[in-house]
Amino acid sequence: ATTLGASAAATGRYFGTAVAANKLSDSTYVGILDREFNAVTPENEMKIDATEPQQNQFTFTNADRIVNHAIAQGMKVRGHTLAWHSQQPGWMQSMEGAALRSAMLNHVTRVATNYRGKVFTWDVVNEAFADSGGGRRDSNLQRTGNDWIEAAFRAARTADPGAKLCYNDYNIDNWTWAKTQAVYTMVRDFKTRGVPIDCVGLQSHFNSGSPYPGNYRTTLENFAALGVDVQITELDIEGSGQTQAATYANVVKDCLAVARCNGITVWGIRDSDSWRASGTPLLFDGSGNKKAAYTATLDAL
Ligand code: XIL
Repeated sequence: ATTLGASAAATGRYFGTAVAANKLSDSTYVGILDREFNAVTPENEMKIDATEPQQNQFTFTNADRIVNHAIAQGMKVRGHTLAWHSQQPGWMQSMEGAALRSAMLNHVTRVATNYRGKVFTWDVVNEAFADSGGGRRDSNLQRTGNDWIEAAFRAARTADPGAKLCYNDYNIDNWTWAKTQAVYTMVRDFKTRGVPIDCVGLQSHFNSGSPYPGNYRTTLENFAALGVDVQITELDIEGSGQTQAATYANVVKDCLAVARCNGITVWGIRDSDSWRASGTPLLFDGSGNKKAAYTATLDAL
């Protein structure tokens, strides 16, 4: 096929991108989005600060702009993210303990219920593990009790029973890293005890500090062997030219080699859309032209 989405669909997968609502009036941006992608993740618009800016006052206007565009175009929507230590509204940042636990669960329930049937996969919990040492990240949510993650998953399942529920994180790509092992151990425990989890999202922001690892396929295989899907959820790769292109191709080949790797999302369309302040980590240049990384990705799909 001649586009990323259609090529991915040929093997039953999706190829998505992060989308910012305020760019939906940019015709170059929307032209590429509608031509190439068959899934979207709102880049910020479904986060806690965006959807519940005041406690119990929910706002879905900007998220809806993306969801409505996706539905009109026949694209899937990944919901990102229901529970996270970051991008919390001020009221939540200052909460702790039982009050925070119930506010978090209320948030999960209300947002997942609002989009029930429209979101095919939720990032229920994002980035709950520490960068080193193999433990949990300290946060106000973690301090409510170690079971906050499974509580969030159970609330999401009740609110939106038809959606796939993911745990999403970065630096869980290299199988030998303690953080990867820690997330693997949690997912295995959840599957053993019947906690409702369906997938693991690997953000896969690759750069010099956390490069694409040669054992990436092993990591995908090992998570999948636990009985969950794996999704590459926020892919971007530092670099340029043929080196960058070859790494994109390797990521795609690794996903295609694993039956339960059912989709890839890049974290933005053009280099100028990237959350990375500098650099050229995406598939299209600032003018919207296809880069070598695009061609390598399409060829590998
Ligand atoms: C980033 C967005 O791209 C930025 O626009 C925002 O300022 C900060 O968040 N991991 C995640 C994403 O799960 O939500 C983050 O997105 C990038 C890292």
